[in-house]
Amino acid sequence: MPEKVLVTREIPDAGLRLLEGFDVTVLTEAPPERDELLEAARGASGVLSTVTEKMDAEFMDACGDGLKVIANLAVGYDNVDLEAAKERGIVVTNTPSVLDETTADVAFMLLLAAARRLGESERVLRAGKWEWWGPKLFMGPDVWGKKLGIIGMGRIGQAVARRGRGFDMEVLYYNRSRNEEAEKELGARYLDFDELLRESDFVSIHTPLTDETRHLISASELEKMKPEAVLVNTSRGPVVDEAALAEALADGSIFAAGLDVYEEEPKIHPNLLDLENVVLAPHIGSGSIETRDKMAVLAAENIVAVLSGEESKTPVNR
Ligand code: DGY
Repeated sequence: MPEKVLVTREIPDAGLRLLEGFDVTVLTEAPPERDELLEAARGASGVLSTVTEKMDAEFMDACGDGLKVIANLAVGYDNVDLEAAKERGIVVTNTPSVLDETTADVAFMLLLAAARRLGESERVLRAGKWEWWGPKLFMGPDVWGKKLGIIGMGRIGQAVARRGRGFDMEVLYYNRSRNEEAEKELGARYLDFDELLRESDFVSIHTPLTDETRHLISASELEKMKPEAVLVNTSRGPVVDEAALAEALADGSIFAAGLDVYEEEPKIHPNLLDLENVVLAPHIGSGSIETRDKMAVLAAENIVAVLSGEESKTPVNR
């Protein structure tokens, strides 16, 4: 009897093809209801999950004693209870590296769009309200040549910094530890957190969500930023206090923001929705055709490896 693999959402075929030797159940395109998820979990040896499913102790117990691997289709794994997995001897994997450049593209897209007021001006145009070219119409700050502050100089942070260099930006960064490679290759300058907030024209967040990074950017941090600054978040929503951000955007404490992630996805803080100076994307950071294929393949390879008794390629809890 082939082992059972549960795939919690529809994923690209490239990944599914690798799982052909298993008894595979693929749930729906939309996130499954919790009951449906727990029901489908029964007897699974491997689970290919996404960020929308909570992989907690209850879920692992619903799978039963045979569960060996949870392969999360994301680089972030804050939806997985690592402690519960460890207690049960379950390998947890993620999809690092394959999505760095693609996510950096979206961070830079949001940065440009927020600075140059693309969302707001397109809404005016589509509403048939664009009447003339104007010398003062939809002005925003230049991006090129400015100071780009990266919070979290990991692989994605560095990919964003490289894009900044292409725009002749000066790269500043804050990280738990110094990244000498980035300093050498990107001419990046390490600053402490407050200095980074004070000096940067653009701040782009690339930290994982942990107890330490929850609401890392809140009212007091926003106050430290320049009034012409732009904040970009493509990491995890709860890293930014959305209510505080909406206030800072409304009262002009910062110029604009570009967000791809939210505190309670898919809910968006109502105060953000009312603002013109925030560009809002629906968590599409890694959503290129090529990258989603690679993520699906890597997640499936991790399942195949563990269920074949081999080491997984990208474990987060080796
Ligand atoms: C990730 O990889 O963590 C993204 O947020 C989901 O694509």
